[in-house]
Amino acid sequence: SADVVPQAPEDPLFGLMAAYRKDTSPDKVDLGIGAYRDNNAKPWVLPVVKQADELLRKDPDLNHEYLPIAGLADFTSASQKLILGKSSPAIADKRVVSLQTISGTGAVHLGALFLSKFYNPSNPEAKAIYASTPTWANHNQIITNVHLPMKNYPYFSKETKGLAFDGMMEALSSAPDGSVILLHACAHNPTGVDPTQDQWKQIAQIMRRKNQFPFFDCAYQGFASGSLETDAWAINHFIEQGFELMIAQSYAKNFGLYGERAGCFHFVAAPSPNAQDEISRVGSQLAILQRSEISNPPAYGARIASLVLNDDALFAQWEEDLRTMSGRIIEMRKALKSKLDEMETPGTWNHITDQIGMFSFTGLNEQQVQKLREKFHIYMTKNGRISMAGLNTKNVEYFAKAVDSVVRE
Ligand code: LMR
Repeated sequence: SADVVPQAPEDPLFGLMAAYRKDTSPDKVDLGIGAYRDNNAKPWVLPVVKQADELLRKDPDLNHEYLPIAGLADFTSASQKLILGKSSPAIADKRVVSLQTISGTGAVHLGALFLSKFYNPSNPEAKAIYASTPTWANHNQIITNVHLPMKNYPYFSKETKGLAFDGMMEALSSAPDGSVILLHACAHNPTGVDPTQDQWKQIAQIMRRKNQFPFFDCAYQGFASGSLETDAWAINHFIEQGFELMIAQSYAKNFGLYGERAGCFHFVAAPSPNAQDEISRVGSQLAILQRSEISNPPAYGARIASLVLNDDALFAQWEEDLRTMSGRIIEMRKALKSKLDEMETPGTWNHITDQIGMFSFTGLNEQQVQKLREKFHIYMTKNGRISMAGLNTKNVEYFAKAVDSVVRE
């Protein structure tokens, strides 16, 4: 009976969102969930998404039939090109298989489920996924839900508020050969700290030597460097080095299609005469997993993204929209940093402008986060992460002053 079911804790992020909604203070500030907001703290429908949506609605042939199990083919092929590059050798060699998923979460899940079933390294100790400390909180439950052991590698240095590169390298070298390493392709969540290209090269070298398996989570392409290609550089570097790897790709943030759940999973085989055969076998198994879990993916968000990705003019408009979002976030980083500098708030705050992507890992501790919420109606995760897009020209000063006050207490 249900008597045996214990009460589970509320999801920290969605719980935070609900608490923010309930708060009636006119001063309240939502820096919780990673979702873009405009300068009025409102959700923003990308102009290109509006255009694509209108085009779709005009299409007399649009219907509500099932998509194939692997999803919309125009969408998955465009997704490959976006993340691997149009002239990718992996695409040319037909050694990529891609399935449309329930956004990035679904892609991480499908990959983890696939590994739990088919990853049988000779050393059973290697059957684990190593994730960064910290990582996106949902990684932990997605991976443990499919009964894969989860292990960690250091990533963030509390002292420098930057990458704990030496610690990460040491952990990778002492992880068993053949382990799976979960990597954030760009704009690391929650820290906003990415390896440099040179550091990525060293990471790839050590993983190559140890025959480790990269699983890239890419939820922020377009938010890190200002260039879609550069944001996918790490993935493509690993592919150039001949790795077999998996990628989870989300369109929630870069298309603002949060609720439409558009995403893609890619398995890339290593270059070999058997690669196409491997891809065919892997694809056949992924199709069975997909069918049993979601049957086939939802169509609408993928149709929107597909229209944009496959049309040069819409694609150019999309890049413009991405610049609008990442540009405003960069402005807010600068504004916050300069307000804190002006007030001479104790501590160093360079990391606010050094970190990239949607988040900043402020270094505020749990108590300070609690005080910000109780005294100032500011909502952020208790690890001190803020979603930069929650700041705007109207509330950035209020937030800076609140931080100043809790830091000085
Ligand atoms: C976040 O970390 O805020 C986002 O990725 C939203 C989510 O689903 O957790």
